[in-house]
Amino acid sequence: MAKVLGIESSCDETGIAIYDTNDGLLAETLYSQIDLHRQYGGVVPELASRDHLRKIIPLIDECLIKSNLKLSDLDAIAYTAGPGLNGALLVGASVANALGLANNLPVIPIHHLEGHLLSPLLSADKPETPFMALLVSGGHSQLIAVNAIGSYEIIGDTLDDAAGEAFDKTAKMLGLPYPGGKYIAELALKGNETYKLPRPMLHSGDLTMSFSGLKTAVLTLINNLKAEGVAIENQVLADIAKSIEEAITDVLLKKSLSAIQQTGMKRLVVSGGVSANLTLRRKFDEMAKKHHIEVFYPPLSLCTDNGAMIALAGAIRYASGSYDYSYSVYPRWDLSSLGAIS
Ligand code: KG4
Ligand code: ZN
Repeated sequence: MAKVLGIESSCDETGIAIYDTNDGLLAETLYSQIDLHRQYGGVVPELASRDHLRKIIPLIDECLIKSNLKLSDLDAIAYTAGPGLNGALLVGASVANALGLANNLPVIPIHHLEGHLLSPLLSADKPETPFMALLVSGGHSQLIAVNAIGSYEIIGDTLDDAAGEAFDKTAKMLGLPYPGGKYIAELALKGNETYKLPRPMLHSGDLTMSFSGLKTAVLTLINNLKAEGVAIENQVLADIAKSIEEAITDVLLKKSLSAIQQTGMKRLVVSGGVSANLTLRRKFDEMAKKHHIEVFYPPLSLCTDNGAMIALAGAIRYASGSYDYSYSVYPRWDLSSLGAIS
């Protein structure tokens, strides 16, 4: 049995959690900086680092109080070592190492994407390896063959924008707040797919995705509607949102199905911020039923960045002894370089 404190600070969320290998998630605290960055339309790295610094210790204290534990009750401390923003990562790495040194606890560096990949293990319905994973976040759209925990083979990727980025950039064109994925999803509930937007690379025959063409298509659509004197509001806005959501989720669905068919895998994990999209979940559930595979997601509240997935990945690595101590951060870190844990 092991209790591991997880620290996530790779981007604009300060996430803290304590995971117990027997009892699961014991406590979680999260602070989102979204309001701070919204006025700039994206994350400002220096402001992010400073805000992590302000929030990280109070959030750790709160998490310990919630779980009724002291630092001396813990077995290890895990932190996101990359990929992410250099300064933001350094805040988490420094706090993890200071606490580890002061309390004589092992400190475990975790790959942020491994956290997302394993986050469905925090759900009641947990996948076993091997599985295919579609990792869709603000920075990534990847298809990853997970042969075992730690053994990750990237078999599909985007040529340009990530799926989350496509949601965010088109949302911005529609005047929606940052990050726009959830606002598009909310509007789409009232919309119809009136506008047929392109599904890039759908027939490319491989697992490559591309979303930058969608931006241009949405911009052209908005300009054409404006030229016709149509206001981009109410039902028109909802219909554009629905059309965007359908285009993005269609591409993700078809590419995931191709990956499943090419590898013969029977389990599919969908994780990362975009996996919170309910239209995507409905489409994937239908596809899974039709093709006799199982599909797994993180709990809805743990799709976007959080400490729980880092504590979980840390606990798995601590229990197996598969981690290398380092007081370093890796703003760019290749997931496939990790290697299967024993
Ligand atoms: O995993 P995440 O928190 O951060 C990264 O590691 O990038 O993902 C954030 C992304 C954003 O692009 C956001 O717009 C998107 O997830 N997102 C959604 C939804 N909720 C968050 N996209 C579509 N539908 C949603 N409901
Ligand atoms: Zn993330």
